[in-house]
Parts: sequence; C-alpha cells; structure tokens
Amino acid sequence: MQIKNSAVSMIIDAQDQKELEEIKLQFLGKSGKLTLTLKEIVRVPSEKRAIVGQLANEVKKIIEETLDEKISALTSQASSQKKQSIDITNPGIPPSIGHLHPMTQVLYEVVDIFKQIGFQAADGPELETDYYNFTALNMPPGAPSRDTQATLYLDTQNSKAEPGQILLRTQTSNMQVKIMEKIKPPIRVIAPGKVYRVDDVDASHSFEFWQLEGFMVDQNVKMTDLLGTIDYVLKKLMGEKTKIKFATTNFSFVEPGIDTYMECTICKSNGCSFCKFIGWSEIMPAGMIHPNVLKAAGYDSQKVSGFAFAIGLSRLATLRYGMDDLRLLTNPDLRILEQF
Ligand code: DAH
Repeated sequence: MQIKNSAVSMIIDAQDQKELEEIKLQFLGKSGKLTLTLKEIVRVPSEKRAIVGQLANEVKKIIEETLDEKISALTSQASSQKKQSIDITNPGIPPSIGHLHPMTQVLYEVVDIFKQIGFQAADGPELETDYYNFTALNMPPGAPSRDTQATLYLDTQNSKAEPGQILLRTQTSNMQVKIMEKIKPPIRVIAPGKVYRVDDVDASHSFEFWQLEGFMVDQNVKMTDLLGTIDYVLKKLMGEKTKIKFATTNFSFVEPGIDTYMECTICKSNGCSFCKFIGWSEIMPAGMIHPNVLKAAGYDSQKVSGFAFAIGLSRLATLRYGMDDLRLLTNPDLRILEQF
C-alpha cells in the first residue's frame, strides 16, 4: 500500500518523460521496489501468499496505468504548447495606419492655398446669435432672404436669451461682421466650419455641411480681384484645366452677387443625379460686400470696399474625389473611407 501511494504521488508530480522513466525504474525495474516485493512473496506463509500476490499485482497494474495516463497528459500538454509558441522569424502583422478623413484633406489643402495668397484662417462658433448670422448681414428680422436658409433655433426657455435669438449657424458668413468688428482693413480672412439647415437629405444636400467663408476688405478692392481669386483657388485645387463659369445672383450681404459653377467632375458635364443633370455644380457663391455690412462692422463704406465668398467644402470634397453622394462623407464605414 505504501509503495502504491508513494509511486502514484511521484507520478502525478512528475514534470517530464525523463522523470517518469526514473520513477518506472525505481518501482518496476529489475531491482525496483515492487519487483523486489514480488520476489519476496515466496517467503510469505503459503496460506497468505495468494492474497499478497494478488495485491502486489494490482499495485503493479495501478502504477502502470497511472504512468500511461501521465505520459499521454504530458504529450498533449507539449503539443498544445508547441501550437502557442511564436516563431520569431515570421514577418509581423502590418499595423493598419489611418489617414485623414477626405473632408479634412480637402479642408487642409484649401486653407494652405489661401494662406499662400495672404489669407488668415479664423475659427468661429457653430452656435450663433440671430444678429451675426442674419441681421448684421443685411438680413433684418422679417427679410424674405432668411427663408432661403431654413434655420434650426435653440430652445431658450431656461436661458436669458430671447426666443429665436440663438441658432445653429446656417452659414459661415456669420464670421464676417464678427471679425471685421475686431480688426481694421486691410484684412484677408478665411473661416471654415460646419453649418446647419433644415434640409431634406439627398445626394447633394444635408442638414449639416462644411463651408469655407472668405472675405477681403481694403481700399479699392474690385470685382476683378474676386473673380481672379476664385479662378486661382479652384484651378489650384482641381487642376488648371478645370472649367469654371460665373452667373449673376442675389444675396442680401453682397452687391452685386455672383455664383461660381464648376464642371461636374462626376459626370464630366453629361448630367448625373449629383449635378441634378445640369452638368455644372454650384460651388462658390460670392459678391462685393454690401455697404450695409461694412457699416455694421464699423467700416467706412466710402473709403473701403471688399469681396466675400463661400466654398461649399463638402460638395468640393465629393467633386474632388469623384464621390457620387454627399452622404458618404458622414458614413463611418472604413471600407468607404479607406478608398480616399
Ligand atoms: N452664406 C451664403 C449661403 O450659405 C453663401 C454666400 C454667398 C457667402 C455669397 C458669401 C457670399 O460670402 O458673398 O447661402
């Protein structure tokens, strides 16, 4: 019994095959403890010999079985360790390197182009007062021009603000008077950012989108300065061969107002859902700053003049990368974003 117990516990504690071989030898070998005991059986009185012999054989069987079990346990442990082991000569898994969002890429590029021609970049709030978003821009309360920009107003119930006074800016033009109040001409400023409107979402419209406002005020700024600036910037960005055309239009804060159209890069002017089958995409509305806006900023409209423009940055990004849907810009699916 003692032999059995010590053999079994030694087998269980064994760490490897070699140790097991030694234990086997120690108990079952030629001069092993159990072998010797079996040899001694002849000395046992004959009436007890059968029982002692049977017992010794059972102990032998138990030791052999325990040895077998331990051997197979050690073998399977070794093979699973082998599977987990690392082959350090294998090439590593390449880390996935991210990149800037296509919208940010375009934004940085446009800002760089403007900086090269002397414009400073400014950042402004998305939550704005009615004054800077509309009134200061020659759009007083009740002006019909406000209707073109369906506005998202903030609930001012629990604040000091009057109802309808705080809104999500509908245009980056909110930055014009805000900045002009602070700095005197000559100024050249761009102000990129997000704007919000109540709008149905489709391939070329969204309730939130990016614009980049720009304006310049100095003595003797002319319409030709504006047209030259637009032409230079768009060609720098989209390539020298880019076709651009201008048309007259109306915005309260500029007089005269113009619209800039760029050949639709999606369909190459053949007509598609993105350009509403016109072949051209409205990209950069602009104009000469209205004297009322200069006055609101505290400037003397007899002494200085200026131009202003806005680039539809979201639209520009889609045209730039040939995306046929503005909604792709707000889709977080990496399979889409990794393409740009
Ligand atoms: N803020 C106008 C809009 O979002 C766009 C615009 C038109 C901006 C003419 C300008 C401009 O600076 O001169 O509809």
